[in-house]
Amino acid sequence: MNTQNLFSPFQLKTLNLRNRIVMAPMTRSFSPNGIPTEKVAAYYQKRAEGEVGLILSEGTVIDRPSASNDANVPHFYGQQALSGWQHVIEGVHAKGGQMGPQIWHMGIMDNHRSGWVPPVPFEGPSGLNRPDFTNGSTMSQKDIDDTILAFGKAAADAKKAGFDCIELHGAHGYLIDQFFWDATNLRTDVYGGKTLAERTRFATDVIKEVRKQVGDDFAVIIRLSQFKPAEYTHKLANTPQEMEAWLQPLVDAGVDILHCSQRRFWEPEFDDSDLNFAGWAKKLTGKTTITVGSVGLTGEFFGAFAGESSQPASLDELSRRMDRGDFDLVAVGRPLLADPNWVTKIKTGRTSELKGFSKEAFAELILE
Ligand SMILES: Cc1cc2nc3c(=O)[nH]c(=O)nc-3n(C[C@H](O)[C@H](O)[C@H](O)COP(=O)(O)O)c2cc1C
Repeated sequence: MNTQNLFSPFQLKTLNLRNRIVMAPMTRSFSPNGIPTEKVAAYYQKRAEGEVGLILSEGTVIDRPSASNDANVPHFYGQQALSGWQHVIEGVHAKGGQMGPQIWHMGIMDNHRSGWVPPVPFEGPSGLNRPDFTNGSTMSQKDIDDTILAFGKAAADAKKAGFDCIELHGAHGYLIDQFFWDATNLRTDVYGGKTLAERTRFATDVIKEVRKQVGDDFAVIIRLSQFKPAEYTHKLANTPQEMEAWLQPLVDAGVDILHCSQRRFWEPEFDDSDLNFAGWAKKLTGKTTITVGSVGLTGEFFGAFAGESSQPASLDELSRRMDRGDFDLVAVGRPLLADPNWVTKIKTGRTSELKGFSKEAFAELILE
């Protein structure tokens, strides 16, 4: 496999990455009461030691009473949680890595299988998580204003703690994405609207507040997905024109990097071109993009949640697209969850030592 292009350095604002490989954000639910433990810090430190270029943390929630549906998902607020995160970033820096937290509000959710529920009902644009499924309240203007400020506060705290960037979770059917999707955003105020461009208003207000808090030189990423967990084949944007109308307002509001989530990175986004989501996003906006989705594995991640195993797969197609300039960075999820040394194995051609992925890897924070 020719993987040289993955190992060139990358620089943008606060990011000085030793290679193009990004650890994808992966919820692990190993932070009791929202506090990241020493083991969580060791887990991320091992990935930095294993030469990951940029680590994105698991989704970590902002200071809103119903931002999470899981008591073991980390918070990004409160003295104890922030001090846990401080250990995380110090450990990563000590091994030459760079890292940003993925800042998250889940919006309207299903109740967690553990039975834990937040102290107040879930909140979202219209109380909906997917068509015909309501499980919480419609946000008032004050709820929206306070939520925007809470995103900004989390970004400011990330910078203060020494993180190198932040990522806003705008994908996969959570709060920001619930505003994008017409099936979950039925609002008739400025946060709703018939067009996708109109429904970017909540995201752009969040981005502007984050930018105000962190200043111009700090790298800000937003993660986006066309698909929804409730509808794998859904597309928010059905044409390149619609995609431009979605992405350009986010860029104008101040994001630096578009993290384009797909289940399989090789799938074309529209007819008549093999460009994937990150390829189109870069072509339409000129911005830095990250691709993701089954890099180095035969099967995709929702299949993994359902118990399917995946074997290691060639990186040739990824390399071809990268050489063509489709995207700048490549996020890798499950391979790095299962193996902190995945990057060094790829770099040194030790492909026979690659592990693949099976569901047992979900059960622990793998340190070796
Ligand atoms: C256990 C697990 C947890 C995940 N949690 C998140 C998350 O918190 N935020 C997010 O944006 N994506 C999350 N994802 C999606 C991954 O970031 C990634 O997009 C997906 O796994 C595809 O990459 P892969 O095929 O390399 O695993 C999660 C995936 C897995 C497997």
